[in-house]
Amino acid sequence: MNEAANRIEARLKGPMPKLALVLGSGLGGLVEKLEDAVRFSYAELPGFPASGVTGHAGELVAGRLSGKPVLVLSGRAHYYEHGNPAAMRPALETLKALGVETLILTNAAGSVREDLAPGSVMMIDDHINYSGLNPLISEPSDARFVGMTTAYDADLKQAFEKAAIKAGEALPRGVYMWFSGPSFETPAEIRMARVLGADAVGMSTVPEVILARFLGLRVAACSVITNFGAGMSGGELSHQETKDMAPVGGKRLQAMLHHLIGEIA
Ligand code: HPA
Repeated sequence: MNEAANRIEARLKGPMPKLALVLGSGLGGLVEKLEDAVRFSYAELPGFPASGVTGHAGELVAGRLSGKPVLVLSGRAHYYEHGNPAAMRPALETLKALGVETLILTNAAGSVREDLAPGSVMMIDDHINYSGLNPLISEPSDARFVGMTTAYDADLKQAFEKAAIKAGEALPRGVYMWFSGPSFETPAEIRMARVLGADAVGMSTVPEVILARFLGLRVAACSVITNFGAGMSGGELSHQETKDMAPVGGKRLQAMLHHLIGEIA
């Protein structure tokens, strides 16, 4: 077992979580809902990323949500911070070592679709890796040839949709396109994204999905839409807007997660 997993296990009581969540920009509020929370700063967990993005806490919190044990990663490393697409690998390997089987990823994203407004939540049906990067480059084993045909688990998608109905929320499916960032897209890039089949654009999640599939985790992911893509609504985009708007859709996503975790974890 790795050192971070040992440290976490030493402080956890009761059944070990089989489910983990990664919270994106401005979505950290869910952590406050955890019962019997045990918190670990990433700084105390070897291999975990130093989180340098405002709106990202950089802590792992274990606790119960809807009565089920979960691990929550509040804050992630982005490629644009250090230029390493595999920066989340040690953290995800730690989850795997602890016995986690299912990973739910969340992010803040820009909408490419007129009918997908800021404040809404989109379930990621599939993705387009537009960055040209891959977290498994330099992985020597044949396991690097990860199939991505069913990367986003079909049963989890259905469970998410049932949870959305129970929460009284809409949950459209869509394609998430990964741009490296940190600059936002240009209006021309947003038009290109639409033509290529994207519904939302963002700067995270895709490398984590690739790594999670490499590790054999079941994956689901949702985007909280914080803004229309560049050129769709006039004004300039900003990280402040992302942070301000994320909690709006974030509340909707939280309601769905409560129902989902009650069912599946
Ligand atoms: N583009 C890329 N990433 C984002 C956006 C966007 O418009 N909004 C939030 N994250």
